[in-house]
Amino acid sequence: MSHARVSLALAFALALAACDDPFLPGPTGGGGAGLGGEAAMGGEGEGGSVDTYDWGLPAGFPRPKVPEGNPMTVEKVELGRHLFYDVRLSGNETQSCGSCHQQALAFTDARAVGLGSTGEEHTRGAMSVVGTGYLNAFTWANPVLASLEDQALVPLFGENPVELGLAGLDEEMLARLAAEPVYVELFPAAFPEDADPIDLDNVVRAIAAFERSIISYRSPYDRYNYGGDPTALSEAALRGKDLFFGEKLECFHCHGGFNFSDSVSHEGTTFVEVMFHNTGLYNLGGTGDYPPDNTGLFESTGEPGDMGRFRAPTLRNIALTAPYMHDGSIATLDEVLDHYAAGGRTIDSGPNAGVGSESPFKSELIAGFTLTPEERQDVLAFLNSLTDEALLADDRWSDPWQ
Ligand code: HEC
Ligand code: HEC
Repeated sequence: MSHARVSLALAFALALAACDDPFLPGPTGGGGAGLGGEAAMGGEGEGGSVDTYDWGLPAGFPRPKVPEGNPMTVEKVELGRHLFYDVRLSGNETQSCGSCHQQALAFTDARAVGLGSTGEEHTRGAMSVVGTGYLNAFTWANPVLASLEDQALVPLFGENPVELGLAGLDEEMLARLAAEPVYVELFPAAFPEDADPIDLDNVVRAIAAFERSIISYRSPYDRYNYGGDPTALSEAALRGKDLFFGEKLECFHCHGGFNFSDSVSHEGTTFVEVMFHNTGLYNLGGTGDYPPDNTGLFESTGEPGDMGRFRAPTLRNIALTAPYMHDGSIATLDEVLDHYAAGGRTIDSGPNAGVGSESPFKSELIAGFTLTPEERQDVLAFLNSLTDEALLADDRWSDPWQ
């Protein structure tokens, strides 16, 4: 795959539109089109193909869609696992995908913003790669990246900012892989039909297949909801669940369905929706602006109304993925609740000063609410019940080089 193909992939494709699906947030994906503060992008998506790969999922839990050109196999996922954790995939051989996406932290890195292999800071924080096989849009606010295969090219070759720093070094990286005996076995096993399987297309395919395999389905909430275990959630978590899914807090409109996010589809869905929302995190100067290096969807579209619109990330394993929001600017879940309860964050002084609740671009769903101290503890207990301990120690997704 040449750099032309890389930039084409980066510049390509819009995935898109509404969907009526029992696993997904309400019919409009959380009051999407037409509601202030939401940006919905629409169109027809590809149908997913049915395969024989064993995802290990409980009955009733949806399976990810798999792109036609990249069917799932055990061998490919195993190759992808080796690549995901291999520092030979960075220019200076210091970082792998796993450096910023650590299994023990539900595939995040505890930093406010990412730190690349050459020391350059990202403007946004590393996101969990758990459940990304269900997403119709990737990263905090990108309307163009339509597949995990395309997304992987960004950290590999991106120069703004540099993450793995492989721009211009793809041949060298492939030579490093070809010199590793493990890969001389793994590549042909994963791509038996290819005469010369160690190439960039296959690197990207294997990494994407590995990411697709990483699914969280064993949290206390899942044992309650899919495992038929009514005792898996505490009384507090059950009360918190009702608040989370209720019209006072409105959380589920954007963080609903089995993935606790929107912009999701799965095997069997034919329409896919992509949503971006402004939660009133910033309101610089009272004009609704966000800090200039982090304007969300606006950065791609230049549409004034897209200022501060971001994708609602999954809340699975959220207790492990602090700090929160695209720029890591909220330290704890308790403070996240402060932000939503106020209907937008107020920053008193400094360059980012402003009253988020008065933002002209804020979603109508961020209206503010009052919680008693007990209700607040209940919501936090519910959010904590989304932590999947088994995921953090599952050998299928661990670092094979250690
Ligand atoms: C330097 C740290 C760093 C490295 C290395 C890194 N990532 Fe990321 N990752 C991030 C950041 C930061 C984001 C959010 C990017 C944004 O919003 O622009 C992200 C986002 C993602 C997402 C989007 C998740 C979602 O919910 O949309 C995926 C998938 C992903 N990375 C996979 C990878 C893969 C695969 C690799 C290796 C090829 C990799 N990352 C290497 C920091 C990193
Ligand atoms: C209008 C849609 C919407 C509603 C309603 C909503 N959220 Fe969010 N949520 C988002 C978006 C968008 C982000 C990312 C915002 C950003 O980074 O600027 C987010 C981020 C978060 C995060 C941080 C995620 C991370 O990985 O850093 C948490 C936690 C969260 N929301 C919890 C909640 C809770 C709890 C509620 C209900 C009280 C709620 N949300 C209601 C859209 C929404």
